[in-house]
Amino acid sequence: MQLVFATNNLNKIKEVQALIPEHIKLLSLKDIGCFEDVPETQNTIEANAKQKAAYIKKHYGYNCFADDTGLEVEALQGKPGVYSARYAGEQRNAEDNNNKLLEALKNKQNRQAQFKTVIALELDNQQHTFTGICKGEITTSKYGEKGFGYDPIFKPHGHDITFAEMELNLKNSIGHRGKAINLLVNFLNS
Ligand code: IMP
Repeated sequence: MQLVFATNNLNKIKEVQALIPEHIKLLSLKDIGCFEDVPETQNTIEANAKQKAAYIKKHYGYNCFADDTGLEVEALQGKPGVYSARYAGEQRNAEDNNNKLLEALKNKQNRQAQFKTVIALELDNQQHTFTGICKGEITTSKYGEKGFGYDPIFKPHGHDITFAEMELNLKNSIGHRGKAINLLVNFLNS
């Protein structure tokens, strides 16, 4: 089966590739000749994922899934949430985002946060969604070099290291995207 993962983020393709069964051939946007910006103009994580998957199905005809992820911080009433990528501005820079979040939480006692990933699947004209959540806390400074995005400042519950200090296998097994992908894979296998 061919299935498009509507992303150009090579980190994500690498993560998902490790979890998808071999008989499912994963195609990237580049593989299907999609070089345009896929619209994600909605104001919830779920609606953005649905919008992206529906767009690829409609314009390119492939069965497809799209994900959207946000980091929801309790003391900031769920922000940056759907705006996580551009929290510190349209340059979408991870370093800037991390610095802004550390600054916003300076002197805050409550550092609880969660990553939320929603995957929207368009399969033979049916739509399905799968949600993965990983709870943890925001550290007071950055630790680790692995991963991407907010990984250096997110320490998942039950672990003493940040996502950026973890091996990818461990992050996949406890992480938000891994959980959502597992739900997707179980569905595809059933
Ligand atoms: P997207 O919806 O996957 O593009 O993610 C939105 C924002 O959340 C981006 O700034 C990403 O860097 C960040 N993000 C998504 N997934 C992760 C993750 O697994 N770790 C750290 N940051 C992430």
